[in-house]
Amino acid sequence: MKEIKFYSGENIPLELHKVRVVQKLNLVPIERRLEALNEGGFNTFRLNTNDVFLDMLTDSGTNAMSDNQMAAMMQADDAYAGSQSFYRLQKAVEDVLGKKYYLPVHQGRAAENIISNAYIKKGSIVPMNYHFTTAMAHITQYGGKIEELLYDEAYVINSSHPFKGNMNIEKLEESINTHGAKNIPFIRMEASTNLIGGQPFSVQNLRDVRAIADKYNIRLVLDASLIGENAFLVKQREEEFKDSTMGEILKTMTALADLVYFSARKLSSSRGGGICTNNMEIYRELEALVPLFEGFLTYGGMSVREMEAMTVGLYETLDESVISQSPTYIKYLVDALDAKGVPVIKPAGVLGAHLNAFDICSHIPQNEYPAGALAAALFLISGVRGMERGSVSNQRDEDGNETYADMELVRLAVPRRVFTLSQIKYVEDRVVWLYENRHLIGGLRFVYEPPVLRFFMGGLEPISDWPEKLMAKFKEDFGDSL
Ligand SMILES: Cc1ncc(COP(=O)(O)O)c(C=O)c1O
Repeated sequence: MKEIKFYSGENIPLELHKVRVVQKLNLVPIERRLEALNEGGFNTFRLNTNDVFLDMLTDSGTNAMSDNQMAAMMQADDAYAGSQSFYRLQKAVEDVLGKKYYLPVHQGRAAENIISNAYIKKGSIVPMNYHFTTAMAHITQYGGKIEELLYDEAYVINSSHPFKGNMNIEKLEESINTHGAKNIPFIRMEASTNLIGGQPFSVQNLRDVRAIADKYNIRLVLDASLIGENAFLVKQREEEFKDSTMGEILKTMTALADLVYFSARKLSSSRGGGICTNNMEIYRELEALVPLFEGFLTYGGMSVREMEAMTVGLYETLDESVISQSPTYIKYLVDALDAKGVPVIKPAGVLGAHLNAFDICSHIPQNEYPAGALAAALFLISGVRGMERGSVSNQRDEDGNETYADMELVRLAVPRRVFTLSQIKYVEDRVVWLYENRHLIGGLRFVYEPPVLRFFMGGLEPISDWPEKLMAKFKEDFGDSL
């Protein structure tokens, strides 16, 4: 998409859509926000949306749907087996992702469960560019281990590297030689690597991974949940693709993988998910698990309406003006925060802006969860709900020891076509205020820790009365303002 220039010279992301359905928001007083944090165990996942002003927890299932998606939902074909909604979806998967065999599942992690059930056994190793929480949980649940093989630059926060999600090819080959190809059921590549700040890989890197997979005869699995945005950044950042269409880039990427899976909560602004391949043998290996875990093969746990929305959403992924909206807003927010000195992941990636809690809360030790504390503090002073992506989101090792995250991040997700620019400016304003008052933020400790995916429902408490002190400073500076 061509940038639309303003006569004033200002760099403003211009919306190429209009808003025709709206939802009212509440901005509750700070006293209520503190109560809400106490009720929700200082865990932003456990907040009630009545207390949330701007919900930047995730883009998963929260991207705005288009008029055409809503219309398609009304034409769904309700049938347990053989639904027309399924055949339309199957065709969209083939048209957009270039894979003819499609297995429907109810969301991304259901695909991870099926793939792990089929291929992981005790002692399996899965090399990947970087883990995603649910992918790792399923692999370890079935007795496997993961290896994260990024280049060092991926961990550099203040960077201009265009492809921090690239797999380290030398380390990949080393890992295969160490563990033996027979113990590696698949290599996993994740588009727009979620947990390191929504950072893409290049097509060239994926080609290099493919060459290694071929050399050692190992399957290549692509997590395509955020492939639209990865393709958009490939177009912007990889010379070879600067004149390619989104469709050409998408198909170039998916053609390199034996098996592609995705969360449709992200990829197509809908719900649901899928696994797809052109390899009949792989299809057969996974097919029987869909009716076992998900539902019949023509709905896979999804409602027919969801499938219709997904079909239209997949085709809309080919439209750069749809896909560019979120990354362009993110870049606007990242650049604005960076200009004010707030430590953020650079370059701006996709999915959201990522605050670097390691730096912002350098006075909070990692065992007191600086990113969790920063997410709670931001909600307290603004009603903006972000997500902790640091050690709280990590899982303990097999001996029950804490494993500390490589990065302590607070992700402020920018779902597609949901927020206005003044809302983004409000976020910027409150984050800058919080940064200037960061010394008032204190640590957290767990009071309730579930054994699996603890970050979802875990409960924490502040280790001192820092939330009250932060609230007092807010009131001193903002008076009666919400
Ligand atoms: C890269 C990636 N893979 C898998 C998933 C899991 O998908 P779901 O939430 O639909 O289960 C997500 C969800 O955020 C994701 O970002």
